[in-house]
Amino acid sequence: MNAAVLHKTSELRHRPGPCPVITTDRLVLRPHKLGDAEAIAQSLGDFKVSRMLARVPQPYDRQDALDWLVLQASGLLPGWTLAITTGDDVHLGVVGLEPRGGQWHLGYWLNRFYWDRGYMTEAVAAVLERFFRRMPDTDVRAGAFADNLASLNVQRKLGFRIAGAGDLFSIARNRMAPHIETVLRPEDFRIPVRP
Ligand SMILES: CC(C)(COP(=O)(O)OP(=O)(O)OC[C@H]1O[C@@H](n2cnc3c(N)ncnc32)[C@H](O)[C@@H]1OP(=O)(O)O)[C@@H](O)C(=O)NCCC(=O)NCCS
Repeated sequence: MNAAVLHKTSELRHRPGPCPVITTDRLVLRPHKLGDAEAIAQSLGDFKVSRMLARVPQPYDRQDALDWLVLQASGLLPGWTLAITTGDDVHLGVVGLEPRGGQWHLGYWLNRFYWDRGYMTEAVAAVLERFFRRMPDTDVRAGAFADNLASLNVQRKLGFRIAGAGDLFSIARNRMAPHIETVLRPEDFRIPVRP
């Protein structure tokens, strides 16, 4: 076996495999499809959502969503981007895990109508549980803008710890904003019980 093949083999061993379908008490998380474009455009066209994300432009329309979905469907991306649905296939939001700079990064967002019902904690807990089954001993990195207390709360409940702070550019805000970096070690992961 030559060096290139060996490198490719070890790279594949460090991937979680294809994007799964995950069912929780209230949610079905599934891979994306092109038909999700309209719902994604509606959710991310809301500045209250996009201002908390680093890489989402404003305004955001159906073509932006389609461009993103085509990339997801290409099979070229090594991570997972799961659509959050309530089982009737209405697209509520996204949970993604992607490798960047040799580390796995978590990202997520939810349509504003569905906030504050515990959906994201439930969704992210289920995705991480599946990820750690396939990739034990792998730290997961996340973060949030410092004014995003809801997101920092989601991460705290799951066992993430603060790992650093700095400024990060938000495309939607068109400026730098204070940002907290967090990390979840597999041994710290816990699934919170819903009240
Ligand atoms: C962040 C986000 C995903 C949270 O989703 P959610 O389903 O509402 O989250 P949950 O209900 O599971 O948990 C939110 C927690 O934060 C708390 N919370 C909500 N708003 C808060 C606020 N303004 N200040 C402090 N805590 C707050 C909730 O009470 C809850 O904690 P609890 O379970 O201890 O009561 C959602 O607000 C969102 O999509 N925001 C815009 C995009 C975004 O921020 N993405 C993440 C980028 S890092």
